[in-house]
Formats: sequence, structure tokens, C-alpha cells
Amino acid sequence: MEITSNNIIWEKHVAVFAFPFASHPALMLTLVRRLASAAPKVVFSFFSTEASNKALFSELSCYNIKPYDVSDGKKDHVSIRNPEEGISFFLTVAEDEFTRGVRVAEMDTGLRVSCLVVDAFVGCSGDMAEEMNIPWVAFWPAGTCSLAAHFYTDLIRHKCAPLLGSAGPNQEIADLIPGLKAVRLGDLPSGVVLGNLESPFATMLHKMGRSLARATAVPINSFQELDPDLTKNLSSKLNNFLNIGPFNLISGEESPSKSDEFSCMKWLDNQETRTVTYICFGRLCRPPPHELVELAEALEENKTPFLWAINKDSHMHFPKGFLERTSANGIGKVVPWAPQDQVLNHAAIGVFITHGGWTSALEGLVAGVPMICRPFLGDHYINSWMVESWGIGLRIQGGKFTKHATRCALEQALSLSKNRDERIEGLRDLAYKAVANGSSDKNFKTLVEVVTGVTMPFE
Ligand SMILES: *[C@@H]1O[C@H](CO)[C@@H](O)[C@H](O)[C@H]1NC(C)=O
Ligand SMILES: *[C@@H]1O[C@H](CO)[C@@H](O)[C@H](O)[C@H]1NC(C)=O
Repeated sequence: MEITSNNIIWEKHVAVFAFPFASHPALMLTLVRRLASAAPKVVFSFFSTEASNKALFSELSCYNIKPYDVSDGKKDHVSIRNPEEGISFFLTVAEDEFTRGVRVAEMDTGLRVSCLVVDAFVGCSGDMAEEMNIPWVAFWPAGTCSLAAHFYTDLIRHKCAPLLGSAGPNQEIADLIPGLKAVRLGDLPSGVVLGNLESPFATMLHKMGRSLARATAVPINSFQELDPDLTKNLSSKLNNFLNIGPFNLISGEESPSKSDEFSCMKWLDNQETRTVTYICFGRLCRPPPHELVELAEALEENKTPFLWAINKDSHMHFPKGFLERTSANGIGKVVPWAPQDQVLNHAAIGVFITHGGWTSALEGLVAGVPMICRPFLGDHYINSWMVESWGIGLRIQGGKFTKHATRCALEQALSLSKNRDERIEGLRDLAYKAVANGSSDKNFKTLVEVVTGVTMPFE
């Protein structure tokens, strides 16, 4: 035991490695804040890049979480052409940076790190934990389906090998793994069987999948009632495979700026129940211009009321007069940003058009809003397939917006919404129960014990 500058006697020191891209660090911090409040005498050193830490820790502070910056691996003069390139730079330096960072944090706290809690995407961390001879807790911030695809990559490649020369992405593969019954080749995350299997990112994910069985625990942002078969299977392969989500039901206090600067909620208040289509493709994805046109025309011809969160640069691709007409006749509102969670929970929302990112899919599920998915990359395809197979939404036909496909999809999704479909309501209830005092709550208590040694009472 050591006394810190704050005169708190820390009992344990946990190092946390974030994967500093997209929503990964925010989800990691949500997890760590929960752990930190459950274990007040444990100090958490939180490692991420400077930019990511700046955004995360601007307003929130927690006395037992200490942010540390690590390099993003970029050389000064190099500009990044795409997200994968940024990831490659980071992966090149990650191990050295985290190793160096841990040494600094151990000096600061005077305590050796006794557990690594990491984003599973930080592939090198398994070896690090082994060298340090401490538990490795690998957090999976996305769905069980994508985790399974990475865990079983070797098996999947083996099973799919005979098809690869001849079959297209729409080829269905039956019984690939338990719980993934009729997935299509093109639904698997890029880098598993299709796409560039040798990219640094794909290589890292493959290696991560192979090493996960060594983890002491694999917590995941989902709830086990959602994918009972997959959960059962992975639980037989992984130590402490713990569904502890959905985080969006737990992390209520944690978004500092839940403001509604574009008055979305007020506009929704004036719409009829379950009639409005909410459209958002996350921060990174944009449909190509011709698809924006098809989607806009479908909305306008259908006279579907809509709220569309899209950045201003895209406006120039809209059909001529689209913004003026739809705002004048009151059917549409286009904003650069919307408070998504609040919007989805508004009674006026009938349908959610999404890219199928995991966080968005969970938000739609928990709000009980049927989804139309237009996947772009990574795990969007498999998430979209799951949304369809859970019966709570559909993939846009052909994978792209055409006027016809969009109108068909809207019709189907609005009818699911109007009839308050039982499956949608059922899954939503299960999610609430899981975090209230059900499986996710219980699993979280197990995780606290694994990471910190603190035992929380089970009810
Ligand atoms: C889990 O799935 C794998 C891959 O299909 C299979 O080999 C294994 O027997 C399954 N285990 C259980 C317990 O279902
Ligand atoms: C969870 O809480 C609800 C409502 O308080 C209660 O009815 C139910 O019995 C509890 N379930 C468990 C497993 O504790």
C-alpha cells in the first residue's frame, strides 16, 4: 500500500488501454467509470491519445481515474487519408507507448499495475498482460455477432474457402457457427473472408480473435438474452464472457452536452405518434450523392415526415429545392446534429434509418424503434443482418438506397412500428430487465470482482 499525493491509500492499480478511434474510447470510459465507482480504493490509469483524452476528460472527472496520453503514431508531416491508415499508425507504436505509459503511471501511484482492462482492439495487450503476469480483461464494445466472427475467423475461413472463388457476397452459408444460422459471405466483417485480409487492421483483429481465449474476462456491450445461442457457445470457449450492456441504458449521467441546439424535440412534439422517420449515419459514414438523392426523393414522394441529422456539406447533393419544399410544408427537418438517444425515445419516432453501427443498433433496439439499415463498413453488415434476424428491422434491399427499395422498406418498417410489434417490445423489455437487476447487472458484479477484487452483494 502506498500513499498518493491525494492521501488516498490505493489498494490496487488497474491500467486501461483505450482504442483511440470512433466511439471506442467513450464506451471504454463508461465501463471504467462504473468500475471506478464500484471500487473507490482502486486507481485506474486510463491511456489514450491526447486528442481522445481531451475530448473525454474535458468536463468529467473522477478522482480515481487518471488520464495518460500516448502517441497516435503519426509523423508530423504525414496527413491521414483514411481511418484505416490512422489505425495502422497507431498500431505500429501501441505496444511501446502503452509499456512506457504503464511505467510512468506506476511511478506516479507507487503501485504496480495488477490488471489490464483493455479494448480488445488493442491486439498487443494480451502478450503484455502475459509478460506482466497479470489478468487480461478484453472489453468488446460491439455485438456478440462480430465478436464471434473474429473469434472464429480461422474456422470461418476454412468453411468458406471452397466458396471464395465462385460465390459472391450474397452467397448464404448455413450453420456457420451456432447462433449465426444463415449469414451471407458479404455480411461478415471486412477482413474475415472478404476484403484485404492482410491489412494491419485485419491482421490485428485476426490475432486478437485467436488470443481471446487467454483473457481472464471478456466483457461485452450487449445483453445475453439477445443472442442466447451465441452467448452459450462463446461462454464455453472464453473465460468470464460477460454481457454487461446495453451501455446506453446505464450511462445516462455521462454525456455532458445533451443539449438540443437545433430544437429537434420541439419539432417532434408537433408530430403524430410513430410517424416520423429519423435518419442518421453516424459521424463517419456518408452515402454517396446518388443515394442521397434516391433517399430524399423517396421521403418526399411518400410524404413521410422525417428528421435527418446530416452535416451541411451534404446539402448540395440533395435534389433541387428539397430542403425548401420539405421545410415549408412541414414534413421534414434537416439538422447537422441531433441528440440521438432522446430523439429515438420520442413518441413521434416511427422508424430509424441507420448505418448499423453497434451503438446505434442498440439505441434503436432499446427505444423500440424499427430500423432500416444501410451498412457501410466493418461490423455494420453483420449488425444489420442481426437486426433483421431479430425481427426488429430490415436491411435495405440490395444494400443501397434506391427510390423503390427505400419506399418498400419504409412501408414495412412503419407497419412494424404502428402495430407495436411484439418482438420489438419483447427485446426492449429484456434489455431493461438485464441492466436493472437481471443478467447484465449480475455479470457486472462478477467483472468488478475479477478486476478489482471488490465483492459486490448479489441480490
Ligand atoms: C461452439 O461452436 C463451435 C463452432 O461451430 C463448435 O465447434 C462447438 O462445438 C460449439 N460449442 C458449444 C458448446 O456449442
Ligand atoms: C427485479 O426487480 C423487479 C422490480 O423491482 C422485481 O419485481 C424482480 O423480482 C427483481 N428480479 C430479480 C431477479 O431480482
